[in-house]
Amino acid sequence: MAHKILVTGGTGYIGSHTVVELQKSGFEVIIIDDLSNSRQQVVTQIEKITGIKPDFHKINLCDHSKLRSFFNSHNDIDGVIHFAALKAVGESVRFPLIYYNNNLQALINLLDSLAILRCNNIVFSSSCTVYGEPEKLPVTEESPIIKASSPYSNTKQICEEIIEDVSRITPLRSIILRYFNPIGAHESGLIGELPIGKPNNLVPFITQTAIGKQKTLEVFGNDYNTPDGTCIRDYIHVVDLAQAHVSALQRLFNKEHESRVETYNLGTGRGYSVLEVLNTFEKVNNIKVSHTFSQRRPGDVPAVYANVDKAKTKLKWVATKSLEEMLSSAWLWEKNLSEGILRK
Ligand code: WQD
Repeated sequence: MAHKILVTGGTGYIGSHTVVELQKSGFEVIIIDDLSNSRQQVVTQIEKITGIKPDFHKINLCDHSKLRSFFNSHNDIDGVIHFAALKAVGESVRFPLIYYNNNLQALINLLDSLAILRCNNIVFSSSCTVYGEPEKLPVTEESPIIKASSPYSNTKQICEEIIEDVSRITPLRSIILRYFNPIGAHESGLIGELPIGKPNNLVPFITQTAIGKQKTLEVFGNDYNTPDGTCIRDYIHVVDLAQAHVSALQRLFNKEHESRVETYNLGTGRGYSVLEVLNTFEKVNNIKVSHTFSQRRPGDVPAVYANVDKAKTKLKWVATKSLEEMLSSAWLWEKNLSEGILRK
């Protein structure tokens, strides 16, 4: 009998790619999503890739009564992957209470329901932003968690603490995954990142500039203490990231976890600068991207990239896709988007 997995935020960027990998690995998937930052059409796109249409329910996790009634009719869920959250760093600075209310209440309601359901397996989507500006690189899971630089990042830190506190006194077993910089799209070109409005993140801004949706890319600062003066990040292919979630669930179901809560960095272990990403994008896609150098972006750290040894040895997972594959898949997706792939 296939394990039944609830994926909250399953029509989102990382969520949708994870649903595909879960279905490919034989899991039965149910998606709940409030569609505040994604489209229901993604469910159809997932079915085009895997041939399996995931069960979908439009629910906001902050709606406690709606969530309870969902679980009343779905009381056989074996595990949960919790993606559903607001995640724009800049927006969280402008609207902190919306972020605290949404991201914390969603997790609390979910954990409440899981306790009643006696579902004890959760994988939580966290972020490398909990490390802030690390003193030592690469960053390990034992690197200090520093005071959050944004309400978004603080909600991730607080959610990790909530999971720790609940796992200490209940049978809940959790795996926390700290993402570095997810980019790229599924090789089919049928699912990918769907930024609403002007993208905050580098790669969607590059692809939108290349396709003509944005006039020019601003490189936020080239006076950092890095080889080419631009910031360094650990970019990871979203499909590699999705596969790590399957590995984490399998570790929980196989009862291989060594403590109530385990935490893993999900990156490649290699950092690339903004200019390296830009130049690689131009080279692999044979296209020029107009760009200018401007002031540093407040809150940016000069360099952050992961030590991924723990995920390699314990999750038996390693990122395999190259920066070239990340950037060619991102470009294919942007071209498909511009040809109206989600309107069909
Ligand atoms: C990368 C680099 C920018 C846009 C993100 C999320 C964060 C976390 C990690 C999930 C930086 C530069 C960007 C642009 C630029 N993910 N840049 N021009 O800031 O590392 O963090 O991934 O939790 O929540 O925000 O990613 O893609 O925004 O920036 O020069 O138009 O690209 O300065 O150096 P970041 P990013």
